Parts: sequence; C-alpha cells; structure tokens
Amino acid sequence: MQLRPAVAVASALLGMSALLTGPADARATPHSPEPLVIGHRGSPVSAPENTLASVDVAARLGITWVENDVQRTKDGALVVLHDTTLSRTTDAEQRYPNRSPWRVADFTLAEIERLDAGSWFDRRFAGQRVPTLGRYLDRVERNRQNLLMEVKAPELYPGIERRITSELRRRGWLDRGHVAHRLVLQSFDAASLRTLHRLRPDLTLGFLGAPKAAELRSYAAYADQINPNHKAVTARYLRAVHALRGPHGRPLRLSAWTVDDACAARSLARMGVDGLITNKPAEIRDALGDGARRSPGAAGPPVRVPAAA
Ligand code: G3P
Ligand code: CA
Repeated sequence: MQLRPAVAVASALLGMSALLTGPADARATPHSPEPLVIGHRGSPVSAPENTLASVDVAARLGITWVENDVQRTKDGALVVLHDTTLSRTTDAEQRYPNRSPWRVADFTLAEIERLDAGSWFDRRFAGQRVPTLGRYLDRVERNRQNLLMEVKAPELYPGIERRITSELRRRGWLDRGHVAHRLVLQSFDAASLRTLHRLRPDLTLGFLGAPKAAELRSYAAYADQINPNHKAVTARYLRAVHALRGPHGRPLRLSAWTVDDACAARSLARMGVDGLITNKPAEIRDALGDGARRSPGAAGPPVRVPAAA
C-alpha cells in the first residue's frame, strides 16, 4: 500500500515514538494507519500451533506479536493449548486410550508433558511438547517478541486469572515495560476480564467478540481493545470502537481475527483496524507491504533463533 505523504510523516513519528517507548506498543500510540500483524497461535501454517516451535518460526519470519491460548491442568499448572481437549493436537488418545474425552482439566501436568504435540502436524515436529505458560513466556522473551494471551474457557478453571497474574509476575512479565508495551490479555469471557482488571488494573485487556455499538461503553470500563471476528468489522463499527476511551484513558483499539486472506487484510487495513490476527502472519504482512506496522525489532535484521527445541 502506497502511503500518502502526511500519513508517511505520521507513520515515521509513530515509529520514532515506538523506538523511544519500547519494542512494540500495546496501547500507547493512537490509532495507526498500519495494523499490527499478530501470529495466531504462533505461525500455525508452518509449525504446530501453540508450541515453542510455532513461536520460534514466527520469530524467524520477523513476527513480533504472537497470540496463544492458556488453560489449566488437573493439578493447577498453566499450559498453552487451544482446544479444551487434548485429542486434536496431541497423541493423548493413543497414549491414554481409556481417558475419553481427554479434557485438559482431567490430566496432570506430568501426564500432559509426556504427550507429543508435534507429530499430528508433521513428523518433523515429533517431540514438541504442550508448553507450560512459564516456558512459553520465557521463549517469547528470549525471541524478543510480544504476547497477546487468550484466557481460554475460564469458566472451566475458576481462579485461573490469579494463577495467570502470579505466573506473569514470576516470569518478569508484570514490570512496567512488559505491561505497557508487550502484553495484552484477551478473552471471550467478560467476567474473566473484569477479574483480571480488578487484580491488575494496569494490564491491557481485550474483549473477544463484537458487542453491539450501544453496549461498547460498558466494555470500555475494563477493556482497552475490542477484538471481533473480521466478518463483523465495518467502518461504522470501527468508528464506534475508536470513539470510546478505555480504562487507561486511551481510545479503544480493534484487532480482527482470523484474517488469512490478503484482500481482506488490505481492506481491513484501509478501514483502519489496529491489528490483524492471522494464521499466515508473514504472508499477510507481506501483502500489506508498507501498510503493516513493524516494531523496531522486526524492522531490523531477523531475530536469530536456534532450531526448534
Ligand atoms: O485471537 C482471536 C482468536 O484466537 C479467537 O478464537 O478460537 O482461535 O481462540 P480462537
Ligand atoms: Ca485464541
């Protein structure tokens, strides 16, 4: 996308402000004409979703924001996995044939750590594990990436919000730099977001869904972002979102999911969305050309990441 001169100047200024404030900005800048490209579950077209390999591939591709899904095991550990059962993305059914329906909540961490979370995707990824949130955070940190963390199905895991904030603190993700620029938590569950906001009012939170425009104001009490399915995004809806200020006094932002089509991405970018959550982060970033926002880390030489561990 060709930037108009005035937009290019604004963009350069925003880039400078990002350089001054931190590696990538979760909420500090006003709406940008360039959406942030966020790897949905890492880079799931190239590596098994939500694994460390998926995060590493995203890093190698220069993708500085990744999305994940967090759940809790039977013994209270936090793990990164999308489905509430283990069947689709691990070999749980083969390893534990008598444990139907293979719910995450019915397995201990030790049991889950024995699973192969890579072979279902490709034999090259055999031995990938379901990551604990702790290991995942460390990897994202090591890769100098930023995290859009989804609290998945919190109704199944009462109290998970406190566990998540404890783990974030333990891993160094609740300092000012991370909270202001490198971390966003999101959920389809408004009650869970309200709990997180009570526990840590400084966190940047996103509501997953598309509340009616008339109801957006109530979400703005605790959510800084409204993140709907891309099919629900219209210019009018986006204006309604941007017109409101969130709990930190800044205009609400909107990241749309799951945008895997280049034409749809360009059209949403022209509309002015703030983020595109995509299974094809490199492809969508390249399709946007200059219209994709890159943090300073991604704009420079590619991050060197060792082969998948
Ligand atoms: O980040 C948005 C998206 O992840 C929400 O849907 O089912 O992929 O977690 P889902
Ligand atoms: Ca998700």
